[in-house]
Amino acid sequence: MKLRIVLGVGVAALGAWALAAIFTRSEAPAAPVAWQSSQQCVACHAEEAREWTGSWHAQAWTDVEVRKLSNDFSNADCIDCHAPQPIFETGIGNRVLPRTTRRVEGVDCIACHQMQDGRMAGTVQNDGVACRPVAQRELVRPEACGGCHNQHGTVDQWKASRFAQPGPEFRDCIACHMPYRDPGDPSKGRDHTMHGGHDLELVRGAVTLTARRENGVARVAIENVGAGHNFPTDERSRAADVFWRPVAADGAPQLWRKIYRFRNPYRFEVGEPNTELPAGQKLEIAIDDADARGAIEVALFFKLTPYYEDPARPDPERECSLVHSARIEP
Ligand code: HEC
Ligand code: HEC
Ligand code: HEC
Ligand code: HEC
Ligand code: HEC
Repeated sequence: MKLRIVLGVGVAALGAWALAAIFTRSEAPAAPVAWQSSQQCVACHAEEAREWTGSWHAQAWTDVEVRKLSNDFSNADCIDCHAPQPIFETGIGNRVLPRTTRRVEGVDCIACHQMQDGRMAGTVQNDGVACRPVAQRELVRPEACGGCHNQHGTVDQWKASRFAQPGPEFRDCIACHMPYRDPGDPSKGRDHTMHGGHDLELVRGAVTLTARRENGVARVAIENVGAGHNFPTDERSRAADVFWRPVAADGAPQLWRKIYRFRNPYRFEVGEPNTELPAGQKLEIAIDDADARGAIEVALFFKLTPYYEDPARPDPERECSLVHSARIEP
């Protein structure tokens, strides 16, 4: 009997709380927290945390390639974006500054979400939860990515593309890189894995490869149909190489021959042009070679780091990932 009354009161209280939560979306204001680590977000935001942990953002400080090129960050210029202060600290559109604490967390939750007043930028305002989110739409602007992703012009390339024009083709950075977890229900939020050059499927969707023979000459065309910026973009270590090889009548394997490279070279590679393929553009290459008169195979390979072990005899099948290939008959 007594138990039922207590339970009844409990249910009524719960009902009132739920109604309050629905109509005001808050209880008593939560006390401000001085966030020390993104590990503190994990308990309440498990899904975002799991996706982010598997992302390259989470590895920005530990990434072996970065450590190698930065001499284990003894080049202090490299710390800025690989262990950044919050983007709202420096202001959206400005380049980020380096931080001195919890560097191992790389580009973490706090770097993207924490505002100058300690609240978290998001889609809702709720003063009743620990992180005190506010609706702050600056977070989703391409310029928010640009604090770290415009040193090689990725945001500027996007602005010059059809994807930046208002209308049916408009797609911003997060439309492509943070798809909704459930396309039918945006309220389930966006995928924080943020795939890039390490995801071959994404790279395959960036470009098409077509091949034909015209007046006896083999021609291969690469078109940037799916990237909202140059292909490949941003990191200068990326390269996309076009190769071809004759198809021997007896099927014996032939050496691949490189005919073109899409890449923005390192600064010290003086004299090398930037050959990235802008969004929407197509490049056609004629293979003017006596060995190309018979049946040939053409292919586009993607390379995360630019140099081949033996530049005179590159082995793209071992050293790169195959993006697309085609065959041209005699
Ligand atoms: C202005 C911000 C910024 C600075 C400064 C910066 N980086 Fe980066 N770095 C990035 C971004 C953004 C990416 C991801 C780009 C991409 O994936 O194409 C990246 C990616 C990389 C990668 C590729 C990682 C991989 O796994 O493939 C390497 C290597 C790298 N940076 C090295 C360096 C070195 C060395 C320095 C210092 C000389 C440096 N970075 C300074 C922003 C920066
Ligand atoms: C004690 C639990 C708790 C902790 C710890 C916490 N949050 Fe939250 N956070 C919530 C809840 C609950 C909501 C949803 C509020 C709502 O929908 O009204 C929320 C909302 C948010 C939002 C807005 C979500 C949206 O839909 O717009 C962001 C962004 C956010 N949190 C980031 C963080 C980050 C980053 C941290 C760590 C620094 C963190 N939170 C720590 C409970 C927490
Ligand atoms: C590189 C920047 C970046 C990092 C790192 C990042 N977020 Fe986000 N987060 C965003 C953006 C952009 C959105 C999309 C907001 C929108 O759609 O309005 C978002 C959305 C959210 C939301 C709203 C619900 C959802 O999942 O879309 C929550 C909660 C959130 N982030 C929490 C976190 C937590 C916790 C971490 C760390 C584990 C984290 N974020 C790391 C940029 C980031
Ligand atoms: C505070 C700096 C910072 C911000 C803001 C930021 N990034 Fe990054 N991003 C990086 C760094 C650094 C890397 C490289 C990490 C590594 O591999 O070392 C990176 C890597 C990436 C990659 C490459 C993944 C791969 O496969 O190599 C993608 C894609 C990406 N970011 C997309 C975004 C998008 C979209 C936004 C905006 C919503 C964003 N980033 C915001 C710093 C940032
Ligand atoms: C229409 C879809 C689309 C839009 C919009 C888009 N991207 Fe991409 N992005 C791609 C595809 C496809 C790739 C893989 C091909 C490549 O590397 O260029 C990619 C690759 C990347 C990479 C990884 C490069 C590497 O090799 O690791 C980064 C970083 C990146 N995008 C950042 C951005 C930023 C920042 C914006 C907004 C200014 C943006 N992207 C807008 C589709 C898009």
